[in-house]
Amino acid sequence: MMAPTQRSRSPPRTWSERSTRFFRLWVLAVVLTLGASIFVMSQGGMFDFRETVEWVRLQVDRAVCTPAKRTPADLSAIDLGPQNCTHIPLPPHMRVPRMFVADEAFATTMNGLTCRECDELPVYDQIRRNLTGTLVNRVEDAEFIVLPFPAECHDSCRFNRQIDFRRAVDAMQPLLDRNPRAKLVTVSRRPFPERTNFRTPMRDLLANNPNIMFLSPEIKNLQSRELRSGAAKFSFLNHVILPQFPVDFTVFDAPFAPDWDRPYRFCFQGTLLNAERTMVTDALRQRNDSYVLSTCRSDRADFAATTFSSGDSATLYSQCQFCPTPRGDSNCDTRFFDAMRVGCIPIVTNAMRATPYIRHVDYATWSLAYLRDTNAKRFAQYLDTLADQSPESIHHQRLRMREAALQITHAECNGAPGLHYALASLIEDRSGLEDLWGHSFQNM
Ligand SMILES: *[C@@H]1O[C@H](CO)[C@@H](O)[C@H](O)[C@H]1NC(C)=O
Ligand SMILES: *[C@@H]1O[C@H](CO)[C@@H](O)[C@H](O)[C@H]1NC(C)=O
Ligand SMILES: *[C@@H]1O[C@H](CO)[C@@H](O)[C@H](O)[C@H]1NC(C)=O
Repeated sequence: MMAPTQRSRSPPRTWSERSTRFFRLWVLAVVLTLGASIFVMSQGGMFDFRETVEWVRLQVDRAVCTPAKRTPADLSAIDLGPQNCTHIPLPPHMRVPRMFVADEAFATTMNGLTCRECDELPVYDQIRRNLTGTLVNRVEDAEFIVLPFPAECHDSCRFNRQIDFRRAVDAMQPLLDRNPRAKLVTVSRRPFPERTNFRTPMRDLLANNPNIMFLSPEIKNLQSRELRSGAAKFSFLNHVILPQFPVDFTVFDAPFAPDWDRPYRFCFQGTLLNAERTMVTDALRQRNDSYVLSTCRSDRADFAATTFSSGDSATLYSQCQFCPTPRGDSNCDTRFFDAMRVGCIPIVTNAMRATPYIRHVDYATWSLAYLRDTNAKRFAQYLDTLADQSPESIHHQRLRMREAALQITHAECNGAPGLHYALASLIEDRSGLEDLWGHSFQNM
């Protein structure tokens, strides 16, 4: 086995950042929207409000978001070494329900169309391969009927009107007639309506389908007040939080060694979407020991050019001691999982963080929470206090992080513990949870 190699490097001296001033942005947006509306109306044309708003948002972003160049971190020399393949024992009292996969009924509704490149398919495949030992061949024996719906696809199934969720659900009726006690369950990578074949916002899916459980990483920008309201809380109980995809992520060994070199103290790379992210960017750019690369919303036009792959993010985060993980488009982002699998201690800045399998996995003893406000100066002071911890205590924090990462991954070499937890969650009593992830509101 090759020992992982790593050059010892000090952080580069120059960084880039872009900063968005929200008040200026707001004033400019109002002026531009009014101007554009008046112009369009004076031309007597049809006024597409949504397109205009999107256009205005991009113009505002281009106007107030200023780029600066930075020498990119050289990640090519970093070798994260082999995967940790420790087999994770499951809690003895945990029970995974009996599952029937509705392949035949589903294939019939698809009229012969087969999806090959859908992110959810590996999860269905793990269930089909009986990794939990709870697969049944007869629907009468099942507690759950798995609807193998391909929600986020990259091939001919993408945005294909034939792949209609309602029709797929209706096709399950004969199976439910044979076993009325069974419930339906399906998986979705990212239920954003514009990106998935669901074409319906997650909230509406949950409300419209009270008899279906959804396994999915997130609900876009879920608010705590939604969970406090009784009716919504009820439908959110049908939503089991998964980690971000790929759920069978690799947990590495080398970055958890006590002598692994982490030249950056804090790291953040991402898009400036909100006040939390601006706070993190503003605080980090004042430091000479940190990595920050924040791009603008308008850069998303050429998305591929400005974002890191999950693998590259993990390599970058392996070079960092702490990773602030401000909220993104949703409450749960890939950054959190990329950070934890390489030992970068996450600093969570939003209370509604999606934490998979909270009943079974400890997050509290290794992640940090900064939930006070979005003032960059106060956040910078908070970061200063973190610099004082002893290396030994940080190392032990990291080891607990590795334990948690190994428990939530669906990687088969670890025994797919996450898959067991996800399926077990379907029958656990989650009604007592204060929010989806077990945070109590007193701590928010
Ligand atoms: C799944 O595994 C369990 C336990 O090993 C076994 O009893 C069961 O028959 C398997 N199911 C199928 C459909 O093969
Ligand atoms: C970084 O800043 C600290 C004070 O904030 C200073 O003590 C240190 O010398 C600086 N390091 C470099 C390499 O500039
Ligand atoms: C893999 O992780 C387990 C659990 O944290 C740990 O006990 C073990 O030492 C790790 N393996 C290696 C080779 O570091």
